[in-house]
Amino acid sequence: MAVSAITDKILVMRTSAAIPVARRISGFVYAIRNIVAEARKVEASGRAVRYLNIGDPITFGFQTPPHLIEAVERALRDGQNGYAPSSGIPRAREAVAAELSGRGMPVTPDRVVITSGTSEGIELALTALAEGGDEVLVPSPTYPLYTAVLAKVGARAVFYRTDPARGWLPDLDHLRSLVGPATRALVVIDPNNPTGAAYPTDVRRALIEIADRHNFPLLADEVYGDLAFDGPVPPMASLSPDAPIISFSSLSKAYLAPGWRAGWLAVGRTDRLDEVLAGIKKLADGRLCSTGPMEHGIVAALTGDRSHQESFRAALRERAALTVRRLNGIDGITVTAPAAAFYAMPRVALPPGVTDEDYVLSLLRATGVLCVYGSGFGTRPEDGYFRVVFLASPPDLSSIFDDVAAFTHEFLSKH
Ligand SMILES: Cc1ncc(COP(=O)(O)O)c(C=O)c1O
Repeated sequence: MAVSAITDKILVMRTSAAIPVARRISGFVYAIRNIVAEARKVEASGRAVRYLNIGDPITFGFQTPPHLIEAVERALRDGQNGYAPSSGIPRAREAVAAELSGRGMPVTPDRVVITSGTSEGIELALTALAEGGDEVLVPSPTYPLYTAVLAKVGARAVFYRTDPARGWLPDLDHLRSLVGPATRALVVIDPNNPTGAAYPTDVRRALIEIADRHNFPLLADEVYGDLAFDGPVPPMASLSPDAPIISFSSLSKAYLAPGWRAGWLAVGRTDRLDEVLAGIKKLADGRLCSTGPMEHGIVAALTGDRSHQESFRAALRERAALTVRRLNGIDGITVTAPAAAFYAMPRVALPPGVTDEDYVLSLLRATGVLCVYGSGFGTRPEDGYFRVVFLASPPDLSSIFDDVAAFTHEFLSKH
C-alpha cells in the first residue's frame, strides 16, 4: 500500500472516534433541564406536556413590569450597547447597595458585582472560594446548580439535612457535625427552592453563627427574598452585618425577568471577605461584563414601583394553598406547606424497589405532567420526593392534580 493510502486510513480511523469530554462533566447534572429530553419524546408521540419542571413565571402568563422593559429599551436606544464595567454600571451597583443597606445589610457599591443572574454570582463565588479537596456545605435537598458548579471546580458538596417534618428547616446539629478543616463555605437558600421553606430568625441566626465562628463565608441565596407569602424577608446579613456573608439575588423571580440574566452579589462589609471580593472581581474581569442594557433594568427595578410584587405574592399564596389541599387529598401523597416562592416538594409513598424517577417518568408518560424527581435535588430515590412548580393558573392546577390523583392511584395499586 502506498504511504499516502496508509496515512489516509489512519486519518479516517482517527476522525471517526468520538471526542471525549472532561471527566468532571459527568458530575455536572441539572435534572430540571435534563428531564426535558424525556418530555420532548412524550410530545413527539403526540401527547401535550404540561411543564411543571421549571420556575419561570413568564411561561405561565406573569408579566415583566413595563417600567423595567422601558428602562432596558431606553438603554438600547441610547447606545448603551458597549461593554459595561466588569462589576457592573455604577448606577446598578449603587441601586443594589442602597437596596440592601435600606434592608439592614450595610454595603457599599464597591462590594457589589452585577452578574448574569444569581447563577453567575454563585459560580463566581464558588470558583473564588473552593477547589480540589475543599468541601462546601449544601442543603439537602438543594438547588442543583450548587452541586453542578462544585463538580466543575473539583470541590465536594457535603449535604446537611433539612427536615420535612419541621417545615424543611435545617438540622443544625447535623450541620454542625459536618464542619471540618476542609470546609470552605456554607450555602443557605432562604427562602428555599425546592422546598418552599422560609427560615425563622432563630434558625437564620444559628446558621450565621456557625459560619462566623468557623470563619467561612455564608453564601446567602436570597433570590426568593421578596416572595415569602407574608411579605419580603430581610437579607440574612441584616441579622449580623459583620459576619462573613455574601448575598445573591436577581431580577429573575421577584421582578419577573428571568430571561434577562440580570443579577447581583453583595459581599458583606467585614474585611475578612476582602480577598474573596478581590478574587470574585478578578474572575468577573475575565468574563468582561454581564449584559449591559439589562443592568439598566436593575436600576429601574430597585428604585421604581414594585407594586407588582404584592399581587404576585397573592397569586402564589392562592396557588400554594390549592396545591397543598389537593396533593394532601391524594392517597399515598403528603406535602409540607410551602411558605414562599412557587415550589412544593410532595412525597409519594413508593413501594420497595421503585424510585422517584420511575414515578415521575411514568406520570409524564401517562398524563403529560412533567415534575422533577427529588433525587435531582439530592433526596434519596426511594424516598419518593418530587418537586412541583405551582405557577399555573388555579383551574389548570386543578386539572393537573386531577390527573396526578388518578395516575397515582393506578400506579400505587399496580405496584
Ligand atoms: C435557589 C435558586 N438560586 C438561583 C437560581 C438561579 O436564578 P437566576 O435566574 O437569577 O440565575 C434559582 C432559579 O431557579 C434558584 O431557584
